Amino acid sequence: MKVSVIVPTFNEGRNPLLVADTLLRVLDPMEFEVVFVDDSNDPSSINELEKLSETRPWVRFEHRVGERGLGTAVVRGFELAQGDLIAVMDADMQHPPEVLRAMVREGIAGADIVIPSRFVPGGGDGGLSPFRKLVSWVARMIGRAALQRVRTVSDPTSGFFLVRRTVVEGAPLRPIGWKILMEVLVRGRYESIREIPYQFQPRIAGSSNMSIKEQWNYLRHIARLVATSPQDRRKYVFAAVGVSGVFVNMLVYYTLVRLGLDLWAAAMLSGAVAMFTNFLLNDNITWSDARHAPAFSRLLRYVATAMAGIGINIAVLSLIAHRLGVHYLIANLAGIAAAMVWNFYMNNLWTWRSRRKAMVIPAVSPSAESIES
Ligand code: GDD
Ligand code: MN
Repeated sequence: MKVSVIVPTFNEGRNPLLVADTLLRVLDPMEFEVVFVDDSNDPSSINELEKLSETRPWVRFEHRVGERGLGTAVVRGFELAQGDLIAVMDADMQHPPEVLRAMVREGIAGADIVIPSRFVPGGGDGGLSPFRKLVSWVARMIGRAALQRVRTVSDPTSGFFLVRRTVVEGAPLRPIGWKILMEVLVRGRYESIREIPYQFQPRIAGSSNMSIKEQWNYLRHIARLVATSPQDRRKYVFAAVGVSGVFVNMLVYYTLVRLGLDLWAAAMLSGAVAMFTNFLLNDNITWSDARHAPAFSRLLRYVATAMAGIGINIAVLSLIAHRLGVHYLIANLAGIAAAMVWNFYMNNLWTWRSRRKAMVIPAVSPSAESIES
């Protein structure tokens, strides 16, 4: 198996030299290549990389003109890489190259994605300042709250990882900013992930390019991932469909009352119509990727779920209004919230049950070799 190591660089001076030579020591006698994707605007950094690729046959180098961005540089690296296993790491020795040996071993053993993690027993993020640690923690929490496939790993914002070629080949990767691993986790094709503990190191020379602008890009990136990933946008689309149902209900109700129907009949009919339009919208938008059961069976399940939801609404409402003496309007709001949560999860698990296989994440075993340095 050939291994490609992609290293994005921006004005790294002579750092790539040390990275390239350490990788030779670590990966020899395996078949491997190091691919630098460079966006430097400092001529001496570009020159260093040029010399490096001329003198070391295992080093390749592409300088991008007029382009900037850690994420897109790595995507370019994926296109250039020829290996069956593709690793990504920084050029400043903050990611200890020795860990690659354990990563490659896990890749050969069958893991689709291998992530060295600062946040499993045996790992550490000593290379960051306390302030960066806090920012990094908040960023991770936001990412995990927003994205289901990110929630399952402990270090999704890492710039250090390895993937099997098939994970990224043909995957529509369009990262904004830095967090290419989150892009791979959400859009890549994989079944198993393996985490390995490692110690994040201090930078050998130069300084970090992290900036407020990159924090903003991170939020934009998450928003785009949520909007384009079916499993993550469902909640929001489901809530929007619910709101549309209120309008449909009101409109039909108003029309029927104006036509002379009595309030009871108008309410029953408008409720049924709104339930049906909600079903159609959820079927065609919210869960359009999960229409496995026959259409009629989906409709029946949806209606059954909604009926039970009404029951839950009433039960919760009367329980907290009578037992706890909560104001009846607030009690109804709580009832509606409980019914919405019920409806969402029931529909997700039953009406539009997704066939996607559960992801296997084997337990982490801190191995001595992976943390040696
Ligand atoms: N090609 C390219 N283009 N490379 C870039 C760019 C760019 O615009 N900006 C930064 N890089 C390269 C740097 O040269 C370095 O090799 C790597 O990307 C990381 O940049 P640093 O400036 O060293 O970032 P950091 O140390 O603050 O953050 C790193 O570590 C974090 C923790 O693992 C990054 O890898 C983060 O993504 C990661 O979360
Ligand atoms: Mn760094």
